[in-house]
Amino acid sequence: MGKKVTVVGAGFYGSTTAQRLAEYDVFDTVVITDIIEGKPAGIALDLNQSRAVEGFETTVVGVTTGPNGEGYEGIEGSDVVVITAGLPRKPGMSRMDLLETNAKIVRQVAENVAKYAPNAVVIVVSNPLDEMTALAQIATQFPRNRVLGQAGMLDTARFTNFVAEALQVPVKSVKTLTLGSHGDTMVPVPSQSSVNGKPLREVMPAEQIEDLVVRTRNGGAEVVALLKTGSAYYAPSAAAARMAKAVAEDSGEVMPVCAWVDGEYGISGVYLGVEAEIGAQGVKRVVETDLDADELAALREAAEAVRAKQADVASM
Ligand code: LAC
Repeated sequence: MGKKVTVVGAGFYGSTTAQRLAEYDVFDTVVITDIIEGKPAGIALDLNQSRAVEGFETTVVGVTTGPNGEGYEGIEGSDVVVITAGLPRKPGMSRMDLLETNAKIVRQVAENVAKYAPNAVVIVVSNPLDEMTALAQIATQFPRNRVLGQAGMLDTARFTNFVAEALQVPVKSVKTLTLGSHGDTMVPVPSQSSVNGKPLREVMPAEQIEDLVVRTRNGGAEVVALLKTGSAYYAPSAAAARMAKAVAEDSGEVMPVCAWVDGEYGISGVYLGVEAEIGAQGVKRVVETDLDADELAALREAAEAVRAKQADVASM
């Protein structure tokens, strides 16, 4: 059977994710849903009309969903569901300011996903990311490996871009890593970062690394402040789409994602940004990376900050 992926939410994040997934041409069907009547169907029609130019066979289907789960039968049989539903930040807001509003939306979506696509791997991108990922697992009751969040790949891509720009080298010669939360306790990992195979710390002064770390941590807010309405979507959708592709292809690729941590790094019982092997069942395995003492301490601190908030979402 051909592969099917659903993207919930037809805002910029959802529609660009659907576009990337369609253009990969690895799925039979990309479903895009929204609560706005006609919008997902319009996007689907438009994307399908690009097939002859871009040369892909994937069919895009747009589905309007209702407050009582109307329309969700359209997602039946999805191998992967990407949840982008929820509000984006406004300038000056933190991701955490969206907690209560987006919790209601994500819970309702997740319950319908559980009902109509019970075998799907769920990739959450709604903010605040770590909390919405935990909530989606609670609401779906899916095994924890089948619910994961997108953030680490995006934060890592931002860090890599800033390093490449600062050193005026090709992005492909730069390797960086970020772990921890998609928020204030994001943990960029200079010890695992390199340029042309040389440790980042040997090619860039510590203060400059710190500046880029701060810019990475505020990477989303910097875009929000410029856009004035809405938040980033090109880099976020690139990351989410790659994760969905890794699931569809059962690739085993190691990516920084928000995954359930159970003993790794001495941390247990929390959704946290870590590296993980991604396959048909979601997270195959959390991959532990060598961290220096400061980075490990920061990761444990991130885990405790996120744990406290994740406990709150259970009742939302
Ligand atoms: C960002 C939002 C999508 O980081 O979380 O841009």
